[in-house]
Amino acid sequence: MQKEIKMSTEIEKRVGNLLNSSNGTSSVETGSSRSSETEALQSKPVEIGRGASLLEIDTASEGLNMELKQKQEKMRETDNVKAMLEFREKLPAFKLKSEFLKAVAANQVLVVSGETGCGKTTQLPQFILENEISSLRGASCSIICTQPRRISAISVAARISSERGEKLGETVGYQIRLESKRSAQTRLLFCTTGVLLRQLVQDPDLTGITHLLVDEIHERGMNEDFLLIILHDLLPRRPDLRLILMSATINADLFSKYFGNAPTIHIPGFTFPVKEFYLENVLEKTRYNIQSEFENFRGNSRRGRRQQESRKDPLTELFEDADIDALFKGYSTSTRRSLEAWSGSQLDLGLVESTVEYICRHEGSGAILVFLTGWDDISKLHDKLKVNNFLGDTNKFLVLPLHGSMPTINQREIFDRPPPNVRKIVLATNIAESSITIDDVVYVVDCGKAKETSYDALNKLACLLPSWISKASAHQRRGRAGRVQPGVCYRLYPKMIHDAMPQYQLPEMLRTPLQELCLHIKSLQLGAISMFLAKALQPPDPLSVENAIELLKTIGALDDREELTPLGRHLCTLPLDPNIGKMLLMGSIFQCLNPALTIAAALAHRDPFVLPLNRKEEADAAKRSFAGDSCSDHIALLKAFEGWKDAKRNRKDRTFCWENFLSPVTMQMMEDMRNQFLDLLSGIGFVDKSQGPKAYNQYSDDLEMVCAILCAGLYPNVVQCKRRGKRTAFYTKEVGKVDIHPASVNAGVHLFPLPYMVYSEKVKTSSIYIRDSTNISDYALLMFGGNLIPSKSGDGIEMLGGYLHFSASKTVLDLIRKLRGELDKLLSRK
Ligand code: CDP
Ligand code: MG
Repeated sequence: MQKEIKMSTEIEKRVGNLLNSSNGTSSVETGSSRSSETEALQSKPVEIGRGASLLEIDTASEGLNMELKQKQEKMRETDNVKAMLEFREKLPAFKLKSEFLKAVAANQVLVVSGETGCGKTTQLPQFILENEISSLRGASCSIICTQPRRISAISVAARISSERGEKLGETVGYQIRLESKRSAQTRLLFCTTGVLLRQLVQDPDLTGITHLLVDEIHERGMNEDFLLIILHDLLPRRPDLRLILMSATINADLFSKYFGNAPTIHIPGFTFPVKEFYLENVLEKTRYNIQSEFENFRGNSRRGRRQQESRKDPLTELFEDADIDALFKGYSTSTRRSLEAWSGSQLDLGLVESTVEYICRHEGSGAILVFLTGWDDISKLHDKLKVNNFLGDTNKFLVLPLHGSMPTINQREIFDRPPPNVRKIVLATNIAESSITIDDVVYVVDCGKAKETSYDALNKLACLLPSWISKASAHQRRGRAGRVQPGVCYRLYPKMIHDAMPQYQLPEMLRTPLQELCLHIKSLQLGAISMFLAKALQPPDPLSVENAIELLKTIGALDDREELTPLGRHLCTLPLDPNIGKMLLMGSIFQCLNPALTIAAALAHRDPFVLPLNRKEEADAAKRSFAGDSCSDHIALLKAFEGWKDAKRNRKDRTFCWENFLSPVTMQMMEDMRNQFLDLLSGIGFVDKSQGPKAYNQYSDDLEMVCAILCAGLYPNVVQCKRRGKRTAFYTKEVGKVDIHPASVNAGVHLFPLPYMVYSEKVKTSSIYIRDSTNISDYALLMFGGNLIPSKSGDGIEMLGGYLHFSASKTVLDLIRKLRGELDKLLSRK
């Protein structure tokens, strides 16, 4: 025992420079941002595998190599590890162990594909680790495996540690944004793709990393696609680096081709047959009548259709044009009526619930996995199932939510078998499609949709809406049912919709605004943005790239030569949308940090105001009372959050949310995100936490100041308020006339005290609406808006390429310029 302790201190000392530990800077786990469940780039650089090289093994590390090997062998003798090994040996990946290790040794790049659950994530990195240690290369090996989501980085690292009979953070650890569990002994590190991208700023050659495994590349996430371009360029410079790409059984050839026809290994997986039912069958089985559930369904579906039309969803069009009679011959009249009414515009939770109930009542034992679109559906269905309690006894089932932004606790429950006679019901987003495998699932209920971002480059519109999944995703979801025995998949959409689904989902890079990505291309010094992005697996639309560059110039992050400005450099270090990042920086400089944190959290996450269909007027009134006479949705949000904090202090937060139509889950998430943002700002030296909150909040109660900071963050999202008789009309530069969103406190207001409005986003439904707006003055724009250009007529200043014009005397102009110059200095000095 004594000896072991001594050894491990020695290990720590010798390898200290190899894997420099940041020793568990723990913080609250939230993470979901508006764009997706994936994690944005991480703030504080962490050192991964610095210093050592694969070839330089000195005599000192020879001893260490031996120690690592002996420790590994000793652990293998323990009962726990033996039992785990029995499980591992049954995984399909195990049969290919030696073939895999040979291929890794012989090739710089290797693509591995295999059915979800075959053991890619937990076994392949572990095979490399075990092999390196057994071959006496343990001291100098440094294996990194990237995960698109925080939650899977943690759960996989924990799993492998227990398979090895170690504590998490010893040989195997993880690092996600603002949180890590690793030590100087760590040889295999799971991190989010964002963390690795951040590491590249410090260490563009990934010095000292011997093996890099990039997981879930089939998902085509933005960070993963971005990383692949970088690695493509890096490999010739690092001939000793081994790259292993891991993918579900989709499209592995695409990746192999991208890396010069790299060899591929396919892990054949065994799954039991899965029976599938489509909506038409489900309706027959469950006798659920969509129409009776939705009295106003026609109205809804018409509204929905309009929404879909603007997005030109081919599936909805197809369904509308279909000859229902011919398609559903043989089904009962009520089923046919339901199908006719079904437009797919809204997820019908009632149908999901009765399908779950049907399974519980009529089918044999086994866990149910329900795929929903997001946190809203999950929490609603969770409550419905609990309240309705159709099994008559809440002890008979265990309802577990599974979402990328969930706190990490309660995770084990998801994997563990429930006690006998208890039915496990997991409510998940598409995270359960391929990242997280729950073995005992026998029934899958698939709503057919997932929240997906889309970007309309022409109108500069970004949306996050539930949309149809691809055939590949539907197949993945179905496959989750056949892991341990034959399963059943209930698809809550008609077969014709399935047949019309696209084969694969569009890569994220082709459907998301690119400003954050462009900023990172600059910070990694990867050359001209458009040239770099043209090298992608599937390059984005040049217009989207142009828009992103233009936006970065407009907010002052890039100069005319597309180089980073001091502001741009600060924004690079914040793993946030650049506009939100700018709002936070300005909030801290101008000492209204509290409001900036709150508003930024809501913008990065989601609107906490809920819209109950039947009590809309009351909800509107509640929101208006928060806004007071500010003409600002953002101020309403701020006041609501402050009210919630007070209520929470008195343990009345639940009632407060209920009375004011706020989502308690979102409020809590906002509070967590505020703390994260504060950590980020202190990480880059913008906030010195030791000075206490007072130091940054001198003007936090000054609403005019807060509106000016909002303008700094939201610019160039500006509309002009133009008086038209007794009313006001709103105009934007890109699309001309727009309307205020009906849910805004500014909807229905005829005249506004100030001439401009800033807004968080434009959405296109039946017309183009601006959501969440704030009425602002021209002074706010002059001080905090974009670059000031002298107008051609010489009598003032222009902004947004001449779209905004301000007349002012020369004295005023000079003064404003001086003030802006001082502001720039403040930004560069930090
Ligand atoms: O990556 P891939 O989908 O190929 O599979 P994996 O994540 O390596 O999982 C292999 C097996 O380990 C599955 O049967 C999982 O259920 C199990 N596993 C687990 O029990 N607990 C975890 N935290 C992760 C995986
Ligand atoms: Mg996996």
